[in-house]
Amino acid sequence: MRQQIAAGNWKMNNTLDESINLVNDLVDKGCPDDVITIFGVPSPYLYEMNKLVAGHANFFVAAQNCHQNLSGAYTGEVSVDMLKSLGVKYVILGHSERREYFHEDDALILSKVKTVLDNGMIPIFCCGEPLEIRKAGSHLAYVAIQLNNSILSLTQDEMSKIIIAYEPIWAIGTGETASPDQAQEMHLAIRGLIANKYDQNLADSISILYGGSVKASNAVEIFAKLDVDGGLVGGASLNAVEFTQIIHAF
Ligand code: PGA
Repeated sequence: MRQQIAAGNWKMNNTLDESINLVNDLVDKGCPDDVITIFGVPSPYLYEMNKLVAGHANFFVAAQNCHQNLSGAYTGEVSVDMLKSLGVKYVILGHSERREYFHEDDALILSKVKTVLDNGMIPIFCCGEPLEIRKAGSHLAYVAIQLNNSILSLTQDEMSKIIIAYEPIWAIGTGETASPDQAQEMHLAIRGLIANKYDQNLADSISILYGGSVKASNAVEIFAKLDVDGGLVGGASLNAVEFTQIIHAF
């Protein structure tokens, strides 16, 4: 069975105190044995949050980005070596906000994915189409191109280690969620691309998360879909009551 995952993406939110309270609240409520919970926290809090989750089964932290190079003169950037030295296991890469505001393209995202994999960490690779593409009905082709230009060039072994998050841009932070059927359609299509390039067993083993206005009120029906293995949750992951319900929505 594929790993079920409730991942939070805090983005650029929370003070240190708020972060400590939130993580303490959530770990207290626990996580089902067959689910893992990942907190995507801002870089300055990774060390502290990783200490808070240590010893709590099935809770982990993720970085929200990293640099593709291992070290050097890149003022303001965070390297995988730094993340590794903090005990971080997961890195969110290719989020649509990174693509849009920081001009990250498929080639750059692929190089970050490879750096993360080469250093024994797990990328949470994000993809997803903007509204005009969805309206034109070309969302499947759009995401196929994103994948073809990036992770579908990984080796079979590399591919077996990644987590994918499908996040339609029109659903991120808008309150508008893809319907469970829309999510299922895309997740099945992504799995099909992986099966074509590698094999069905590999495709069937990869966790594909849905992201875009996931809330306690819609998580159960989205996570119930056959090819949806959990969520990458922004706004609702900042609220302990909401996110606890999402962790228990499988
Ligand atoms: P949202 O964000 O849940 O607030 O829509 C999701 C994301 O950007 O990962």
